[in-house]
Amino acid sequence: MNNENLTPGSESQPLIIDMKGIVKRFYIGQPNELEILRGIDLSVRKGEFVSIVGASGSGKSTLMNIIGALDRPTEGTYVLDGVPMDDVPDDLLSDIRNCKIGFVFQTFNLIPRTSALKNVELPMLYANMPLGKRTARAKMLLDLVEMTERMGHQPSELSGGQKQRVAIARAMANDPAIILADEPTGALDTATGRLVMDLFHTLHREQGKTIVLITHNPELAAETERVITLSDGRVIGCERREAFHAGV
Ligand SMILES: Nc1ncnc2c1ncn2[C@@H]1O[C@H](COP(=O)(O)OP(=O)(O)OP(=O)(O)O)[C@@H](O)[C@H]1O
Ligand SMILES: [Mg+2]
Repeated sequence: MNNENLTPGSESQPLIIDMKGIVKRFYIGQPNELEILRGIDLSVRKGEFVSIVGASGSGKSTLMNIIGALDRPTEGTYVLDGVPMDDVPDDLLSDIRNCKIGFVFQTFNLIPRTSALKNVELPMLYANMPLGKRTARAKMLLDLVEMTERMGHQPSELSGGQKQRVAIARAMANDPAIILADEPTGALDTATGRLVMDLFHTLHREQGKTIVLITHNPELAAETERVITLSDGRVIGCERREAFHAGV
């Protein structure tokens, strides 16, 4: 990705995602292997809000798994918030993930039979934050997503939009370097999806969060600062939205 594709004013910010030549192959039994990512260069600076679009099967979730340290590339280098991922042993990957990445999924992925409050506290428990501190922060985050009144409810008692707001609060738990959202509005109606998207804009604008949004919705993608288009495992487009700072 070239510098001219960066958001104006963001050039001075450090790179949060710095990927070069990322290749991902899946071995499905010799002699077959599938090359799903075919040499991806991707740079995202702190505080950017970018989207990744592309046809189903183009490799978006595969790329997200690598960005989010859920998987490793077959080839190429990835530096996440200054940490060369090649140097991180497997047993430390989950720690890196827990403190640097906040995930938001289409299917919410909340822990069942567990209150919204406990769901948001969980990543902080894994990060060894003391109980009082993590409860206070979870309450603050649930307030931010306007879910205070429902914090004692379990996922089965919440609507899709409410579940996604809890999931976004959980994603913010350890103040991650990046929020990675894979089709976060995919299971929601248009109006509810709008509220979730507005929340991402708020986190970006008011908290300076770096957000990577994977979406099939071109209108939502067009609201972000850069739209990165994948096709058959390659970046085929990187459009900057000039008017972004004029306000969404
Ligand atoms: N573990 C795996 N083993 C083999 N093939 C895989 C594996 N994971 C993904 N693939 C293949 O990689 C390709 C890209 O999948 P991926 O999930 O990244 O697509 P996507 O762009 O996220 O699609 P969608 O928009 O439908 O979510 C698909 O052809 C898929 O079958
Ligand atoms: Mg996908």
